[in-house]
Amino acid sequence: MKTATNKPDYVLFDRTTRAFIYNMQTKAVQRMLDFDYASKREIPSVAAIINPTGSDSYSKFFFGPQEILLPVYKSMQTAAEKCPDADVMINFASFRSAADATLEALQLPQIRTVVIIAEGVPERKMKEVIARAKELNKVIIGPATIGGIVAGAFKIGNTGGTIENILESKLHRPGSVGCVSNSGGLSNETYNIIARNTDGLYEGIAIGGDRFPGTTLVDHLLRFEKNPAIKMLVALGEVGGNDEYEIVKALQEKKITKPLVIWVTGTCAKAFKTEVQFGHAGAKADLEMETADAKNKALREAGAYVPDSFDDYDKLINEVYTGLVKEGVIIPAPEPEIPKIPVDYDTALKSKMIRKPANFVSSISDDRGEECLYGNKTISQVVREGLGIGGTISLLWFKRLMPQYALKFIEMCLIITADHGPAVSGAHNCIVATRAGKDLVSSLVSGLLTIGPRFGGAIDGAAQMISEAYDTNTPPAQFVAEMKKKGVNIQGIGHRVKSTHNPDLRVTLIKEYAQQNFKETPLLNYALEVEKITTTKRDNLILNVDGCIGVCFADLLRNEMTKEEADEYIRMGALNGLFVLGRSIGLIGHHLDQKRLKQGLYRHPWDDIAFLNE
Ligand code: ACO
Ligand code: LMR
Repeated sequence: MKTATNKPDYVLFDRTTRAFIYNMQTKAVQRMLDFDYASKREIPSVAAIINPTGSDSYSKFFFGPQEILLPVYKSMQTAAEKCPDADVMINFASFRSAADATLEALQLPQIRTVVIIAEGVPERKMKEVIARAKELNKVIIGPATIGGIVAGAFKIGNTGGTIENILESKLHRPGSVGCVSNSGGLSNETYNIIARNTDGLYEGIAIGGDRFPGTTLVDHLLRFEKNPAIKMLVALGEVGGNDEYEIVKALQEKKITKPLVIWVTGTCAKAFKTEVQFGHAGAKADLEMETADAKNKALREAGAYVPDSFDDYDKLINEVYTGLVKEGVIIPAPEPEIPKIPVDYDTALKSKMIRKPANFVSSISDDRGEECLYGNKTISQVVREGLGIGGTISLLWFKRLMPQYALKFIEMCLIITADHGPAVSGAHNCIVATRAGKDLVSSLVSGLLTIGPRFGGAIDGAAQMISEAYDTNTPPAQFVAEMKKKGVNIQGIGHRVKSTHNPDLRVTLIKEYAQQNFKETPLLNYALEVEKITTTKRDNLILNVDGCIGVCFADLLRNEMTKEEADEYIRMGALNGLFVLGRSIGLIGHHLDQKRLKQGLYRHPWDDIAFLNE
């Protein structure tokens, strides 16, 4: 791994630079990684995120089309130990904690540069930070800055804006111009001007708008002067302060020899009667020499290229650049191919650039609006109109609101199937599971899993068998005989304990309700004929609960929809859903009951088991 120390001091960032991002600034990180990919960097420029209020973890990002995980550390110290190659910290801490976080970062031997994004860091605190950085020979950029960029190599946070902007301003590959300014917004504008009038930016730094910036315009210009890759300098000064006079001095002392195009903004301040405070804390002229006009004049006299107004700034940049090309100082490189950056799915979808077939189709409920719809009714309507559980099932299972008699019948089925004591298969399993320490859902499911053709799961089977026999005009006696011949039990017929002598009153309830409320009950009538025959064989071969619900429900569906639709619901197994739903009520009851009674682990008695040692 590369160590941070073997770089010349004029290089703060290059294609191998790795940074820590202080605070969870995921958007800024993603923009940096998109820039890295566009610049064909081999490794991401973000080494890790430091999230002082979180815990050690990872965060997902894209590096081009590929998803990568970046480590997140709670402590700066751990981040430093884990990522010894990181030498930059981009500090997104608030104005309250930015100075302390910077002081902590400066103490890490590997850190060479700290960028402070926050605006409004107390000036007293900043003076302390600047002094400490000087002592340690480290560089501060900011505060109140967007950061900076080395084209095609490294980008600080949100510098340069969106990836489209980056590509437009040709920041994904190096040019020959070093640029420095106060303002982040204007720096983006300047990079664009540079892209249009020269071979492009090499490095650009926004020093930030505070009165006490960590580094000044001249600091960076002197750095650019030393960098052989930078052939011309471009700067934007600002009304207020003396920083530009340092540039004047450097020009006079020939410390800056590369051609410098500079404009000090704020010349319009003279149009106002009183002193104007521009956006930045430092942007206010207290003395005549701090005015933009005075500074522009001094710079021009010291040998800088200063336009007459901002309108001529681009032309002058172009003139100076063209001169350097003519002299052979700059040899423009061939334009590399513009890299294709994958677009985020959400962005592409929003701009209607892509379409995708749905993985799911759903037609019963729609939760995209203000309120979820059950069929065409909002939940509020279902509640306010008193549609009850019957209405809810009608809407969600059968996609229509059936008449009141049908809704009442659905509810009756649920009430009737809710429980049948602790001895039946489902309740038994649920109770055993509860006593073995299982939770509510596991115990419930254990009971539900016993539902099958011999217990509670014969409703659809009964409806299907009986309706098929009825639809083919098979006389009931012939039907019973044929089933016997095939050795198949007629679904919905027979009960272990109920019989003609001990009738199942649940069946009576269902039967009577259907006969009194349904338009017609041909399938029920047919099933009762079948029962007459089977009970002559054995008194327990009655039409049971499953059978009675099955045939009555088939009659109801055939009343409320086409025969084909009704048969399709039965084939899909919809009617067993009634027993599943109803019995869940009882099974949950059994689970709670066993818990409440604090029943211990269940063990079956040996005398109830015949051991066959074959
Ligand atoms: N159709 C025709 N004959 C039957 C039926 C039937 N549905 N059920 C039992 N028989 C006959 C058997 O063929 C057997 O006759 P055999 O003695 O001549 O061989 C005799 O009755 C006894 O059969 P078993 O299976 O021992 O009866 P058991 O009382 O154990 O089973 C059960 C009861 C499981 C309900 C059975 O009748 C059956 O499988 N019925 C069809 C499925 C059904 O409706 N299940 C839901 C039950 S209700 C509920 O769980 C909520
Ligand atoms: C039930 O509803 O669970 C019963 O009909 C089954 C039984 O065995 O009694």
